[in-house]
Amino acid sequence: VEETLVLVKPDGVARNLTGEILRRIEAKGYSLVDIRLVQPDRSLLAKHYEEHEGKPFYEPLVEFMLSGSIVAIRVAGDRVIEGFRSLAGTTDPTTAAPGTIRGDFGRDWGLKVQQNLVHGSDSPESAARELSLWFK
Ligand code: GTP
Ligand code: MG
Repeated sequence: VEETLVLVKPDGVARNLTGEILRRIEAKGYSLVDIRLVQPDRSLLAKHYEEHEGKPFYEPLVEFMLSGSIVAIRVAGDRVIEGFRSLAGTTDPTTAAPGTIRGDFGRDWGLKVQQNLVHGSDSPESAARELSLWFK
């Protein structure tokens, strides 16, 4: 079966939303395969976000991801990659649809980075690459 990497970003952990996010993943019928609380270093984040290097939001994004603990989750299920991205909602939390994680709990805080609570891999290739980074 397919697997994806889900991250509860520092804003989600700080706001005590980890349980709610896990609940939604489980309620959708996906399986938690592995989970860890991580304090990532810069080199892990540089690899994770290599596709965004050079973009205006890259540095604020990395600083945000270094600002607190992250919960990394290996999730399994048929079509889980697109299924979790559907649960998460669109990137901008202000306009993400209500009913999604970002739409229900996220919004703009006037910062240079979108604090949007969760990450989900966007393709099978990304999932394999990212899972190998966060679960050595
Ligand atoms: P992830 O699941 O976190 O990868 O989100 P995504 O796939 O919906 O977005 P993407 O991979 O394009 O961008 C990664 C992260 O960078 C986003 O989750 C945001 O936190 C941030 N980001 C992306 N685009 C923008 C932008 O245009 N402006 C700002 N300020 N932040 C952005
Ligand atoms: Mg992405």
